[in-house]
Amino acid sequence: MSNSRSATAIASPNIAFIKYWGNRDQNLRIPANGSISMTLGGLETRTTVTFDARLAEDLFLLDGTRTTDAALLRVSHHLDLIRELAGLKLHARVESRNNFPVASGVASSASAFAALTLAACAAAGLDLHARMLSRLARRGSGSASRSIFGGFVECVAGQDDQTSFSQQLAPPEHWELVDLVAVVTREKKPVSSTAGHALADTSPLQAARVADAPRRLQICRDAILTRNFPRLASIAELDSNMMHAVMLTSTPPLAYWNPETVQVMKQVVAWRASGLPVFYTVDAGPNVHCITLAEHAAEISRRLRSIAGILDVLRAPPGDGARLA
Ligand code: PMV
Repeated sequence: MSNSRSATAIASPNIAFIKYWGNRDQNLRIPANGSISMTLGGLETRTTVTFDARLAEDLFLLDGTRTTDAALLRVSHHLDLIRELAGLKLHARVESRNNFPVASGVASSASAFAALTLAACAAAGLDLHARMLSRLARRGSGSASRSIFGGFVECVAGQDDQTSFSQQLAPPEHWELVDLVAVVTREKKPVSSTAGHALADTSPLQAARVADAPRRLQICRDAILTRNFPRLASIAELDSNMMHAVMLTSTPPLAYWNPETVQVMKQVVAWRASGLPVFYTVDAGPNVHCITLAEHAAEISRRLRSIAGILDVLRAPPGDGARLA
């Protein structure tokens, strides 16, 4: 019998329409509020995990480069959870490649931990249900819990490890939305979302944002299920603004927006007022996700590219959940 066992998984990032910010339990990453996202097709992380008796330590190669810093620790820590479940003592070699720029404002930790969870479980011989995979992925990165599923996905905040998981609301083909990511910088964000979540409770606005979350989730869920674009547009922009209001009023304050971020947000609102179906949502970085319907994507993309300071526009339709390669 061979002394190594290997599996490869593919996962995509996602963009949240109702965002998760702050943890009820920082260690278990139990989110303070539920969230709803769309999995982004075409953007992929491909990860191979090989448990090998000959390895003296875990190895992590990201886009071909061996990583030795905090990223390796986070991967190792995640593998520990899976080793414990499987009763496995072997170290692993983890090779991960993204087909999109990591610092493009697309949340690479979501696809990274969804792919790592599925590949590591398969290599360890664990055959787990999607819900259990989403709980495990959550331990690596809260948003990774949602990337286990394709299409439109809700993360139920829950109270503890058992009750905090994601589930699919609708498959990718349910609605032809497109995410156009207006890239305004390629620099890595100065404050990671892990560090940002820990600051959320220092904002006097966080309690109100969390208390109102069930209402926003309900509107967003309904808007997706009935394909009501104007309703989705207004609730998603409100939710993004509420999260950034919390960030800006944390101690210390987190200001993720650049001048170009605000410019794109204002343009998007003006375009919608003139009749085009488009809305913005911004994560923990300055790049702007502009959501539109497939038939208007070329026009919105052309307009975004004509704005000074926009370096690139990535395009993603609803995509599939994590799968073995
Ligand atoms: O999964 P994390 O820890 O990178 O947090 C994600 C935070 C946001 O992207 C800002 C919001 C979200 O729900 O995806």
